[in-house]
Amino acid sequence: SSDNQPYRTAYHFQPPKNWINDPNAPMRYKGLYHLFYQYNPKGAVWGNIVWAHSVSKDLVNWTPLDHAIYPSQQSDINGCWSGSATTLPGGKPAILYTGIDPNNHQVQNLAIPKNFSDPLLREWVKSPKNPLMAPTQANQINSSSFRDPTTAWKGKDGYWRVLIGSKVHRRGTAILYKSKNFVNWVQADHPLHSAEGTGMWECPDFYPVLNKFPLTTGLDTSVNGDHVRHVLKVSLDDTKHDHYLIGTYDSEKDIFTPDSGFENSKPILRHDYGKYYASKTIFEDGQNRRVLFGWVNESSSVADDIKKGWSGIHTIPRTIWLHKSGKQLVHWPVAEIESLRVNPVHWHSKVVNGGETLQVTGVTAAQADVEIAFEVNGFGKAEVLEHWEDPQILCGRKGANVKGGLGPFGLLVFASRGLQEYTAVFFRIFRYQNKNLVLMCSDQSRSSLNNDNDKTTYGTFVDVDPLREKLSLRTLIDHSVVESFEGEGRACITARVYPTIAINDKARLYAFNNGTASVKITKLSAWSMKKAKIN
Ligand code: FRU
Repeated sequence: SSDNQPYRTAYHFQPPKNWINDPNAPMRYKGLYHLFYQYNPKGAVWGNIVWAHSVSKDLVNWTPLDHAIYPSQQSDINGCWSGSATTLPGGKPAILYTGIDPNNHQVQNLAIPKNFSDPLLREWVKSPKNPLMAPTQANQINSSSFRDPTTAWKGKDGYWRVLIGSKVHRRGTAILYKSKNFVNWVQADHPLHSAEGTGMWECPDFYPVLNKFPLTTGLDTSVNGDHVRHVLKVSLDDTKHDHYLIGTYDSEKDIFTPDSGFENSKPILRHDYGKYYASKTIFEDGQNRRVLFGWVNESSSVADDIKKGWSGIHTIPRTIWLHKSGKQLVHWPVAEIESLRVNPVHWHSKVVNGGETLQVTGVTAAQADVEIAFEVNGFGKAEVLEHWEDPQILCGRKGANVKGGLGPFGLLVFASRGLQEYTAVFFRIFRYQNKNLVLMCSDQSRSSLNNDNDKTTYGTFVDVDPLREKLSLRTLIDHSVVESFEGEGRACITARVYPTIAINDKARLYAFNNGTASVKITKLSAWSMKKAKIN
């Protein structure tokens, strides 16, 4: 019951118990969404990995099916690791995934549906030719760093292309393979991209985005040409963050040239500046959108994970597109999730003075969707930032309880009545090099009285001009997850928290301002969220 499991989510994807990690091969087939995921059938820690399988009509409610892919042949006898789906001619899905062979080498395998007329795609047959790609003496690929095939795309020459994550010493690498028939794969003579010092690239993802209006239009993975930019995402094993680069893909030479790469001193872009990993996207035909799926690990101790019997959730799928600046992606929860909203509470125009905390009543604060927008003035009161500082460290140094000039202001979620516990999602505006610099933080330092949790504070600068735009924030709150979207999706921060007092109906929601300047809430809308049917 929710009494002894206060941290189970009501509308974020998770199985009934045990460990989950990466989303695998999300796809839509015959009107149904399929989600596979890395799963340990035997416990709440990583191991014994199979592909568990759930289906959905709406990306909100999910029905579990039997495991789709599990060790059954030499080429995957020690584990079925991450992979992706590609739609082959005739609308037929095919899955490429990493298998762990009897020598514990990482190899790439193919599986196709046994029965294409089954909309549930319950059974998958593995190619007798597996493995289709393997480390050898000749190719010198590191057998413990060769995994996570992408969705394949087709070039004008009719060849399929796929990326496999790898590294050569400390150089992270996206190895490129090509095939005419999806079975015989040949390694290209150079990787699509690589970067020194970045370590192993897990779960690469590579796709086009449209660079003209309407920007929200998604593109099929094989599209290239005018008004098309490409995104290369890699999950860095060293830092456990998902980074992406925007650039140009020369599909004749098979070279991806990022606008600014890892070596560049500019801040590197991330899908999420909190806890978030191993994401991947799909292009959705009917809806003309590209949707991003991602995994969020726990911040609790392994002992607590074992005690509660589970670990890991997925975020709400996000529609992604290129921001009009061309410099970053925009992320927004899929519209379908709004079907869970009930009992809205609206505020119009409320001033929050410095030091004030206003409770938002009338919502189930442990299970809610909140949108808030702030208008700020008095830029003369902004704190001056002398030297550039890593935003996460800055958020840690200047948490919600550190009084400022313009900010901190934002939301206190999972707050207990006496504020012994709260998670603060907030803005703080600095004066930096004669410009306003907007910092966004998710401060977990007071999120729980249980000190066994990782309570690291997260943060990022957001490319919003507070002189011309309102500072907006949307936060999805779900028992142990706080998923925040700032600047209409220009920055996301996801955090896992485990309050001990502020659980279920003991949780409260506040708007706060701990700066000296007052700020105006131009609009707040908060909804209680219904429980989704999840597995
Ligand atoms: C990423 C990852 C992948 C691997 C899988 C194993 O989280 O380590 O590289 O395929 O998980 O479960």
